[in-house]
Order: sequence, then C-alpha cells, then structure tokens
Amino acid sequence: MTGKLLYYCTHCDAQYLKWQGQCAECNKWGTIKEFAVENGPLIAPVALNLGEGIFRLQVGLLEVDNVLGGGIVPGSLVLLAGDPGIGKSTLVLQIAAGILSRGKGEILYVCGEESPAQIGLRLGRLKLGPENFSFLATTNLGSIIGAIQNRKPCLVIVDSIQTISSDKNDSEAGSITQIKLSTSELLQIAKQTQSPIIIIGHVTKDGAVAGPRSLEHLVDVVLYLEGDDIHAYRLLRSVKNRFGPTNQVGVFSMGENGLEEVRNPSELFLSQRPETLPGSVVSVIMDGSRPFLVEIQALTNKTSFGYPKRAVSGFDLSRLELLLAVLQRRAGLRLENQDVFLNIVGGLRAKDPALDLAAALAVASSLANISLPEKSVALGEIGLGGEVRLVAHLETRMREARRLGFTNFFVPEKIKDIQGALRILGIEK
Ligand code: TYD
Ligand code: MG
Repeated sequence: MTGKLLYYCTHCDAQYLKWQGQCAECNKWGTIKEFAVENGPLIAPVALNLGEGIFRLQVGLLEVDNVLGGGIVPGSLVLLAGDPGIGKSTLVLQIAAGILSRGKGEILYVCGEESPAQIGLRLGRLKLGPENFSFLATTNLGSIIGAIQNRKPCLVIVDSIQTISSDKNDSEAGSITQIKLSTSELLQIAKQTQSPIIIIGHVTKDGAVAGPRSLEHLVDVVLYLEGDDIHAYRLLRSVKNRFGPTNQVGVFSMGENGLEEVRNPSELFLSQRPETLPGSVVSVIMDGSRPFLVEIQALTNKTSFGYPKRAVSGFDLSRLELLLAVLQRRAGLRLENQDVFLNIVGGLRAKDPALDLAAALAVASSLANISLPEKSVALGEIGLGGEVRLVAHLETRMREARRLGFTNFFVPEKIKDIQGALRILGIEK
C-alpha cells in the first residue's frame, strides 16, 4: 500500500518520494536526506503479512489479529467500542505494545480522558515500559491532527472520541456533531498519513445517540469489547471490517496484568460444571467461525403467588417464552404453574438458535428432576410444531464437543448416521 519512501526531513520526519530543497511540512531548507537503506523508512511496518494482498501490522496477540483479519491495516480507522470500565484502554495499550515489539515506530496516545500519569500507571500494571509512547494530553482535534502529521506515528490511539472536539464547530464535546466531525477528520488523516488510528468509544446508556453506533458507517473497522462486571471473561467482536471477515470473536480474561488470551474458551465456560445435574445441559454456540461449548441451566419451581415468573440471564426472554409454549403444547409438560429461570453460565450472552434444544431439555430436565446422561450435548433449533431442526455448522460444533470428551449428542432425528447421535425423545412429534 505505502509506496517506497526514499527521502525524509531530518527536522520533522516528513517523507518524500523525490528529493527537494525545502521541506513542505516544516519549511526548513536543506533538511531532506535520503534514507540509508539499512535504516528503512521510519514508520515502516516491520511485521508484514501479505494475506489477501493487504499489508497488515500484526499485533502479536493472536486473538486480536484473528478478529482484525490478520492485523491492523496501515491508514485504517478502527473503532473500539464498549461499556465504560470493560477494558478498552487496557486492550489498546496491549495492542500498542504488541506492535512496538514487532517493529519500530512511535505510538501516539491521545489522552482525552485520563492524565498521562494515569496511563503510565496502567502501563506499569501491564508490565510494559513507556518507551516509544508519546502521550498527548489534549482534547482538541486540530492539535491531534497536527501531531499525527508531524510525528507520523506507527499507531494513533484516541481515548476517547467522546472527549474530542473540533474548533470548526461549537457544539459540546461528546455531542453527535462533534464525534462525527472528529471521526471523519481522523479518517482523512489516517488515509493521508497511512498511520492507523484506533478510536475508543464508550457505549452510552441510550445506545444510539452520540454513541459508537452513530460512527459505525464512518470507520473501516468496528470492534466491540463485551463482558460484564462480575465475570472476568471479555469477548472482542468485529461487527464491521472493510479488510477482513466480520463476526470474528476473540476471547480474553481480565487478570491482574491485563487481558489474557483464552485459547480454549470451551474449557473456560465449562470449567466449574458438575458432571450431571438436573436442569443443566451443554450446547455449542458459534461465534463467528468459532465453536465453543456453553452450559445452560434451568430451574423450575412451583409458582407460589400470581403469574408464573420467567427470568433469563444471557438468553432471550421471548425465545424462552416461545420454547415454554412449545413444551407445554407439543410435549405436554405442565409448566403453567411453574416459575422458570434460565441461565447461560459464565455471564455469556448468546442468541444462537442451536441453543433451543438445550434450553428446552434443561427446562424438562429440571421439571422432572432427572439429569441428562453424562457427556451429553444438545444441538437443535425448535419450531412451533415441536419439531427439532438442523442447525448450521453442525459438524464443526460436534467436533469441538468431541474434542472435549462429549460422546452423546441430542440432535434432530434426521441425523441417524452420525456417531454418538441420540434420538430426541419427548419433543419429537
Ligand atoms: P479500563 O481499560 O480502564 O476500561 P475502559 O477503558 O474500557 O473504561 O479497565 C477497567 C477495569 O479493568 C478496571 O476496573 C480495572 C481492571 N483492570 C484489571 O482487572 N487488570 C488490569 O491489569 C488492568 C489494567 C485493569
Ligand atoms: Mg478507558
């Protein structure tokens, strides 16, 4: 992407393809020098990956590189969004350190939110040094753009977009006008200088207004960092990527020294599971191209007062209500006087139709107080007629489950020839 840059200004680092007497950036005369070959261009991405013909700066954290489609593309604008406190500032520092460890250059960190000293403390906690980081304590868009033009960093971090404002508009920082204006100007400067920029955006309570959603169409890549306050795991999800696949998911766990990659999410989400327990059923969700195992728990309890209560954690409430109606009508389960609680263990949120069967079996299992056979996995979508339907990527899901020692599969009746597959009783009409 970047042409071979052969000349640079010794005063301001501006780079040129041809020699010239005066530097167009800083107006100094006689400062343009040829690159010594062994030095290479100052902002040269060193760890290049030519996958699909796009140059990428590899971060070196496999979970992040996968989500990005191989690395950060020079000149791209990446939006990293998530709830306050979820770990966005932590993740960008780890990304920056990963890039620095694989090439040379400077990271320009725009601290609109915290002081450089606070970020220094976080660096210390992550056991990272401040070398090659430049902290810019400003919220003024013009100053940020000037710094990017002058310094040509190998990565720019803007933490956060909601604090930045441009003099060109007099609405407040954080207003929809300001965040959009700042984002589109940053996009231009990224393309112009080829410095990639990561902007951090807090997900606001009202979601759409002045939140990252309103920026999604402007930027090249949109990443969401998700998780919750109670559990340590974090999911990094790509919802838009002009240079790679979307819906890729990286799994991390927040530890004492920052985010640790979780290579085996299934093991994480199943780690404390008792072998058999009434109301507990394992299933496999697909997040992007990656399968992982989750445990679904249901608890039914006789309603003591008024309407039966239905409550979920991590599962869609209206989906549960639909499944309960199907169980009642098609399988004859007496649920009309039962409170039903359904939980995806580990604080995970999932909306995969393949979980229907596991949820229904969990409810039935709790109601009957009978646990499923050991090492069972349920995979199937349930229709209104009570029929269990095939789900996408069944083979991939079953492979992951087998890898973790599961041998009994509750799957739609049509699949008889798959090893270990069990016929579904009770739901099948
Ligand atoms: P932070 O990156 O500041 O979140 P954001 O930028 O999204 O607001 O991280 C917030 C939380 O993460 C904070 O409560 C402290 C915790 N944390 C750890 O548990 N371990 C660590 O190594 C670090 C740096 C933070
Ligand atoms: Mg932060």
